Amino acid sequence: MQVIIQPTSFDAVNLAAHIIAERLRKKPHLVLGLATGRTMIPLYQRLIEMHQKETLDFSLAVTFNLDEYIGIPPQHPGSYHYFMYNTFFRHINIDLRNTHIPNGMATDIFKECKEYEEKIKDFGGIDLQLLSIGESGHIGFNEPLSSMFSRTREKALSPVTIEQNKHLFPNPNDMPKRAITMGVGTILEANECLVLVTGKHKSKILAKSVEGPFTAMISATALQLHPNCIFVADEEAGTDLEQKEYYRWIFENEPEWEFYRKKIR
Ligand code: GLP
Repeated sequence: MQVIIQPTSFDAVNLAAHIIAERLRKKPHLVLGLATGRTMIPLYQRLIEMHQKETLDFSLAVTFNLDEYIGIPPQHPGSYHYFMYNTFFRHINIDLRNTHIPNGMATDIFKECKEYEEKIKDFGGIDLQLLSIGESGHIGFNEPLSSMFSRTREKALSPVTIEQNKHLFPNPNDMPKRAITMGVGTILEANECLVLVTGKHKSKILAKSVEGPFTAMISATALQLHPNCIFVADEEAGTDLEQKEYYRWIFENEPEWEFYRKKIR
């Protein structure tokens, strides 16, 4: 695991976007795991800008979203289908047939989850999984006590998550209480994970996720087991990290970050 701290949320987003762009330029058929939530909005905006001004090409990319609410249709403004289409997909040249989001309206949710896993395998697995951390420490919708080996499945949302996300619904009471989410095991199988965390309100959960003990109470701690995981945080989110100086030294000195130091300054 590597932790990179950037001065502002703009810088953190910009670095994360450059990491994604570099992976996509190297492999146009990249299988990209996508996340939703407020943290992702400026990241998708930056990628759209790169598409428009720097010809970043998504035409061959394949995407798999982490999760979707159960019981609301794709056109519902609170759904992740709606979020992804309006925040990202419609602004880039991705082929919508190559985008995948769990179907929260499926009549057989168990079958939907099983087929989602199979589809990921059919595409050869996820190359780069984008993530953020929810205030409950979840990745995707893997709420406390999610098995570290869990696969895509139906999950009941925790009160913390309902509180965190209900304001994203035109009528907060409409927020579903269940979702389909990739499992922690599914996420850990991605070749690489990129976790973007911004804002002071995430500083405690970020420190627990990165430096705290491995526990099913905080599914983000599972990322400590991933052999190829990068956390990018802004200074505010990094406030409670104990080893900040070490992480800063890594970014400033390690040769593998030289390319990005030049790109973002
Ligand atoms: C939702 C998603 C998570 C995401 C979280 C972060 O709960 N299911 O995958 O990490 O939002 O939300 P935000 O970026 O709004 O803090």
